[in-house]
Amino acid sequence: MPDSEFIALEKVEKVFEVRRKTGFLKRERRQVRAVDSISFTVARGEMVGYIGPNGAGKSTTIKMLTGILTPSAGRLRVAGIDPSRERTRLAHRIGVVFGQRTTLWWDLPLIDSYRLAHRMYRIPDARYRENLDRCVELLELGDLLDVPVRQLSLGQRMRGDIAAALLHDPEVLYLDEPTIGLDVVSKAKVRGFLKELNAERATTVLLTTHDLQDIEQLCSRVMVIDHGRLVYDGALAGLHEAGEGERTLVVDLERELPPIEVPSCRVVRVEGPRQWLAFPAGQSAAPLVASIAAAYPLVDLSVREPDIEAVIAKMYAEKAVS
Ligand SMILES: Nc1ncnc2c1ncn2[C@@H]1O[C@H](COP(=O)(O)OP(=O)(O)O)[C@@H](O)[C@H]1O
Ligand SMILES: [Mg+2]
Repeated sequence: MPDSEFIALEKVEKVFEVRRKTGFLKRERRQVRAVDSISFTVARGEMVGYIGPNGAGKSTTIKMLTGILTPSAGRLRVAGIDPSRERTRLAHRIGVVFGQRTTLWWDLPLIDSYRLAHRMYRIPDARYRENLDRCVELLELGDLLDVPVRQLSLGQRMRGDIAAALLHDPEVLYLDEPTIGLDVVSKAKVRGFLKELNAERATTVLLTTHDLQDIEQLCSRVMVIDHGRLVYDGALAGLHEAGEGERTLVVDLERELPPIEVPSCRVVRVEGPRQWLAFPAGQSAAPLVASIAAAYPLVDLSVREPDIEAVIAKMYAEKAVS
């Protein structure tokens, strides 16, 4: 397995069968395509953001990458391992943090969860000490070790969870919404820690979030998922551009005609009497429509937003609500 394909997905799908009660003894079966033919690779040591609106398929992807869920189709490897086939072997090489759910023992002091991890993963004593000390220092857990987990604030608990995921020196860390619900100070601590972890240990990090600031501060590469499909994979800067991007005017004419010529528009596709015109997203469509209507036999038209823009707009809308 080359380092450039440390995590590799090839046309991975996950379809859930959902049964819904529609009446007495009547049930309807429905399929939810949570992940729809996703392909990407992550190189060893990369820190990648995996973003998208609620229900996009982020957690489902992470669960397949840990082996909790088996893909319905496609090929998936992490460190050369097929996660759902060799979940236990993989567990020694990955760390996982689910923001919505703790792996810590609720009624026990924080340190007890770490002692359990020490035994469960058979971490050599010296290694365990060293990793624990480091996490305690960087995540500022010193005063919290003897506190029962249920008494911790969300931010403290999250830092506790991150430490727990790292005691066995995983090569990959998956974080599913690690900053959800955290206050500004806790968010800053978590981000600072992840940055250092990635820089010093070259830990590969896949970070799921719908907080764009997490990405801005941590990830140079970002993947955007929407309705189970990967709609963007590239630099963060490019994401801003794609978000500004172009909109498309779909024009139906009375008959087949040569490409429409209007200022600041570019015909990108012609299919019979239908033409697609790209124009800058920042520009109003109204004057374009007026000039087309004045010069061409117009039957119908619609404006299409770029996928990526719609996704990001949705993310910002959710952020404004939360
Ligand atoms: N266990 C499940 N059974 C049925 N549907 C599921 C299950 N888990 C997730 N889904 C559905 O799959 C889609 C993607 O969910 P999820 O991966 O949790 O999205 P995200 O983490 O991006 O918010 C959603 O429509 C969700 O309702
Ligand atoms: Mg999720």
